[in-house]
Amino acid sequence: MHRLRNKRILLGITGGIAAYKSAELVRALTGAGCDVRVVMTAGAQEFITPLTLQALSGNPVHHSLLDPEAEAGMGHIELAKWADFILIAPASANFISRLATGAADDLLTTLTLASVAPMAIAPAMNQAMWLDAATQANINTVQQVKALQIWGPDEGQQACGDVGPGRMIEPLALAQTLAQQFENKALSGKTVLITAGPTREAIDPVRYISNHSSGKMGFALATAAQEAGAQVILIAGPVNLNTPDRVKRVNVQSAQEMLSAVESHLTLCDIFIGAAAVADYRPSDVATQKIKKHNDDMSIHLVKNPDIIAHVAAKQDKPFTVGFAAETQDVLRYARGKLENKKLDMIIANDVSNQEIGFNSDDNAIVIIDAKSETVFPQATKYHLAQQIIQTISHKL
Ligand code: PMT
Repeated sequence: MHRLRNKRILLGITGGIAAYKSAELVRALTGAGCDVRVVMTAGAQEFITPLTLQALSGNPVHHSLLDPEAEAGMGHIELAKWADFILIAPASANFISRLATGAADDLLTTLTLASVAPMAIAPAMNQAMWLDAATQANINTVQQVKALQIWGPDEGQQACGDVGPGRMIEPLALAQTLAQQFENKALSGKTVLITAGPTREAIDPVRYISNHSSGKMGFALATAAQEAGAQVILIAGPVNLNTPDRVKRVNVQSAQEMLSAVESHLTLCDIFIGAAAVADYRPSDVATQKIKKHNDDMSIHLVKNPDIIAHVAAKQDKPFTVGFAAETQDVLRYARGKLENKKLDMIIANDVSNQEIGFNSDDNAIVIIDAKSETVFPQATKYHLAQQIIQTISHKL
């Protein structure tokens, strides 16, 4: 089921007594970490209310093609493009026949035509309706023309008292079949916590101490980890970058804020990557008003900031902990020192004296160091190197 994490599932519900089981299906999918959007036909709403499914999915339920409010939120074409997979459960005989003809006369049929996402239907109907030649011909058509998968139906006692094929597959089994549709990736089922960017340490309401980190390296890592199947939480200092797709972002300013954001997201985290350039010191006192320039010189007393990554690595049930070492000289020796002193599992050394790499550039050049090895990765984009780092980490787990 972990393969379902972060997946976008569009669940279509059509009219039939099995519609009540869709509530359980939505719970199973959201419980497995899916983002679920429910689309109901008019018939489905006779059996279960949109409100129930909205509460369970945590998202508004879509049911009308001509609803300006819903279209303003997420239009039907946008919804069709959003889905990683479309599952229609239950799929009634009537809906399957409309699917077979290419009808686009309500929201759900229109979505199935407009989407290129893989699709499956879980038929549910009276056994005689299922065995009828017309239904079987429609099933054939949707299978061959639309390359749909047909999941079920099960055989057994039916709500109407008949016995035979036509029962919708049980929700948990549907969720498991859905999980099998997604490939197992290097970090499937893992949660990765990443810090990125600089921290800002306030001097007074308008001034601060900071550094040149742009956040690009950390954001590239978040993208690569998400693409490798992980659930990613990105604790970002003040940077001007868009949040990578499907990544949870928490914005912070200071090192102390970064530490408390890390602390509150650390449970259940499998991998921690500290790519942030955390200010080592902060002013001991922050002036409440803008400091005036009365004297020719002034001094600011600084105190040490908490070492976030050392704090993480000191935990008894610590995640696989990866640091960065930003050095301007004797790069490998200092990096190895940080690996050992901070008790990290791995450290990524980068030479930040070179303007073309390191701080604020699109490229970097790194050495991945652990207790036993040093592997050099020459200059490349931060995204490319992030992919290499994520691959290397996945082999160590
Ligand atoms: O953001 P970009 O512009 O893309 O630039 C990328 C980068 C150069 C910032 C990045 O590749 C990098 O090297 N990040 C770490 C920078 C740094 O602070 O290095 P350090 O050697 O001072 O710290 C060693 C490790 O301890 C780092 O993982 C750091 O996040 C962590 N640390 C440091 C101090 C502190 N108080 N708490 C920490 O967690």
